[in-house]
Parts: sequence; C-alpha cells; structure tokens
Amino acid sequence: MRFRWRGPSLVIDTPAKLNLHLEVLGRRGDGFHELETVMVSVGLYDTLELTPAIAGIRLSCLYGGQRGPIHLPTADKENLVVRAASRLQDLCGVSPGVRIRLTKRIPMEAGMGGGSSDAAAALMGLNHLWRLGLDRAAMHRAAAHLGSDVNFFLDSPVVAVCRGRGERIEPREFRGALWFVVVKPPVGLSTAEVFRNYRLPEAKQRTASDILSALQSGSVGRCGEALFNALQSQAEEQSPPVVQALRELRSQRVAGAAMTGSGTACFAVCRDRRHAECVASVVRQRDVGAVYVVRTSA
Ligand code: C5P
Repeated sequence: MRFRWRGPSLVIDTPAKLNLHLEVLGRRGDGFHELETVMVSVGLYDTLELTPAIAGIRLSCLYGGQRGPIHLPTADKENLVVRAASRLQDLCGVSPGVRIRLTKRIPMEAGMGGGSSDAAAALMGLNHLWRLGLDRAAMHRAAAHLGSDVNFFLDSPVVAVCRGRGERIEPREFRGALWFVVVKPPVGLSTAEVFRNYRLPEAKQRTASDILSALQSGSVGRCGEALFNALQSQAEEQSPPVVQALRELRSQRVAGAAMTGSGTACFAVCRDRRHAECVASVVRQRDVGAVYVVRTSA
C-alpha cells in the first residue's frame, strides 16, 4: 500500500493479490471454510482518495479499466469501503465525515481481492485521517469483521500464508520477483456460490510447502509447477470461460497456470517481464478476456 498527500486529501494505492496455493481444509460451523492459502501482492492498484468532510461518508467510483473510464453509480452501504468507514465510526464513536473517490483498476469478481484491498486501504487511511490511533490488533479485528481477505491487505506483505478463513496472516520472506500474465474472463463468479458448490475431497490434496520452497529457491519453473487451487475445478464446471482462459495461457510456454481465489481470473507464471509481455500480446488476440502483465509488488 502506498500513501501520499494531495492537498488535504490522503491518496492510497492499494494492490491486488493472486493465490499461488489454495487448499480447502474443511467446512466450519459458521458457514465458512477453513483454508490454507499462499497469497502474493501484485502491482495492479486501486486508488482511494480520502478527503476530510464535516459529516457523512460519501463514495464515488470511477472504473479505470482497460476499456477507458466508466462512472459506476455511487456505491451504497453494501460497498466494503463504506462499511469499513462506518465500522471505524462505530468503533471509535467519531462523527467526522469523509469523501472517498475510488478508482477501480483491479477487476471485480476476479478472485484478486480488489474489494478487500479497498476496504483495508479505507481502514488504514481513515485511522490516520481521523487520528483514531487504533493499534494493529484493533485494525486486524476490524478487518476480519469486514471479510476474509481484508487482513492480508492491511500489512500488504509480498508473500504470506493465510489460514483460518483467510484472516490469519503469516508473512514470509521473499526477495525475488515473479512476473505473471493475468486473464480476467468477461464473466465473474460469486465467491459464496463457488464455496457453496465445492465438494470436499476425502483427503487433503496439497500442502503449502511445495510453493513455499519453490518461492525460496527462486526457480520460476518450480513456482509454476507448484501452483494449486482446490476451487479451480469447481469454477471450471460453473464457468467455461475459466477453462478457456487456462487453456490459452497453458498453450504458451509458461511455467504454469492456475485460477486465483474463487475466480474467474487466471494467471500464468512467466520467466521475466519480456516473456510476460510476449505471452500477453498473443493471449490478447484470443479474445478470452482482459489481459494484464503484473509482477509481485516491491
Ligand atoms: O469473507 P468474504 O466476505 O470474502 O466471503 C464471501 C463468502 O465466501 C462467504 O460468505 C462464504 O460463503 C464464502 N467463504 C467461505 N470460506 C472462506 C471464505 C469465504 O465459505 N474461508
């Protein structure tokens, strides 16, 4: 997450994530699933501009995606950013307001954590702007209340193992850089629906140790081979564009490809930036969705 001031406004660039490993360990009593996942922050950013106001929370959205800016309707109380701001107001009993301008670049219903990343940025920014002084533990409690992926973005580690329903974060050392090509098919999938339809296998399939040791080794080939997402076959069943995106990525000479989160975005691990640009330019011609070249965030 990157912070800067523009006059009285606090501007925050907040990243996307990819899941390099996602295993579902079981179904819990609270309706969630127990996970073990390895997430990386990648350099595709939404931007929040927070401007102090006398009262109220107002949000406006601009979609800065590949097809040029389209204004989205002003988001309502269901929006995670608005919910993050109200949560802080309730927690701290504060009344000051804020105007929030959100520029979306991270594709939605993609499994790239865009909404969660925006919520984490709102928590971090407003804790500062409203001088609330909430400590790290309180911020993490507020984040977990908002959604399973929000905690990851609070600290934005480059690599972390996430457990529980995704909210327990263990950052891991990673000094290298990985380059990815991401394809976001034109259709999205609802996270809740993918989890609802997921059939737990008899035995746990994979542990995070393969991808973690591959990351440590710095071998792009090993990272590609170690990719795993337990939700992928379910998403492929629900959404043929996921199958097509993976097929196109794998038809290039990439180290490996997988879906991220509950989809529908899929990604391939590439040797370096040049390789990623080449793969992206071929895949763009196949019309399988929006194509992005991203690297692990610095
Ligand atoms: O936490 P979040 O709001 O992102 O989750 C959306 C939905 O995805 C949940 O309501 C739940 O149905 C499902 N989910 C789950 N197990 C998780 C995370 C999400 O079943 N660990």
